[in-house]
Amino acid sequence: MEKAELISEIERLKKEKNAVIMAHYYTNGEIQDIADCVGDSLALAQWAAKTDADIIVLCGVHFMGETAKILSPNKKVLVPDMEAGCSLADSCPADEFAKFVAQHPDHTVISYVNTTAAVKAHTDVVVTSTNAKQIVESFPKDQKIIFGPDKNLGSYINSITGRNMLLWNGACHVHEKFSVNKILDLKKQYPDAQVLVHPECKDVVVRLADKVGSTAGLLKYAISSECNTFLVATESGILHEMQKAAPSKNFIAIPPVDSTCGCNDCAYMKLNTLEKLYNVLKNEGPEVIVDDAVREKAVKPIHKMLEISAKLGL
Ligand code: 13P
Ligand code: SF4
Repeated sequence: MEKAELISEIERLKKEKNAVIMAHYYTNGEIQDIADCVGDSLALAQWAAKTDADIIVLCGVHFMGETAKILSPNKKVLVPDMEAGCSLADSCPADEFAKFVAQHPDHTVISYVNTTAAVKAHTDVVVTSTNAKQIVESFPKDQKIIFGPDKNLGSYINSITGRNMLLWNGACHVHEKFSVNKILDLKKQYPDAQVLVHPECKDVVVRLADKVGSTAGLLKYAISSECNTFLVATESGILHEMQKAAPSKNFIAIPPVDSTCGCNDCAYMKLNTLEKLYNVLKNEGPEVIVDDAVREKAVKPIHKMLEISAKLGL
């Protein structure tokens, strides 16, 4: 099918089936353009919790589909490609995490949303990069905390809150690849540019940032900043929305350590295509399924995150 036909078929099926298409900022531009809502991990969870659609098509990665299913268990949740995983979620196997948690019974467990449902089931409160700082700060200063699985986000939150959370040793393969040297080279070329960094990057990269934030946070900053040029250290899909929202500004994707590998693209996010979106909607499958016993436990820390975020106006 030609692209135009695919788009009109997706629109037709969406109405016919009362489906909503949600997309993360890291997906391809054409997916973002056809989606009903495009956002960061927190926004996707918030929308999934309150939609009245019968079907949620989550264009992102598998844990985002799982989170949507946990929040809306009576809806059909579809992801265009079941192989769209996440290296960060993979760096935290649930059985090993459960052992780690059991070894520290006096610790509160805070998990990044980039985890499987099974890990969330061993968690007290889930966070995203939009609300991690505030949620950590909602606990008393002397509260012992385990933070998993992203050691980079965890150490960034430790540094800005003065906490000493015990960190799981996980990381995202995309964000770990940004190089200090490439940023310094680009700064020479664009001396007035501001550097935007996602907190999943290593601390040496975070230290070069003018703004550290979630995808939504970086986007908001870029729109309101007086600056015209930005060097962006996160997955390159976000540039689509940045350029759309601020067409007169210049956004430059910082290349990874090895610029020939294109690894500032998340291969998992890029598995979402219009064709797969069309097929999953047409076939109403494959569906994201979460085991009931796991869901019962995993829903609590996600609800806790949504409640705290709502109180904070996030
Ligand atoms: P946010 O969009 O919440 O900043 O998350 C980034 C990410 O890596 C999603 O997988
Ligand atoms: Fe996971 Fe990294 Fe891809 Fe985000 S960019 S989905 S953390 S692998």
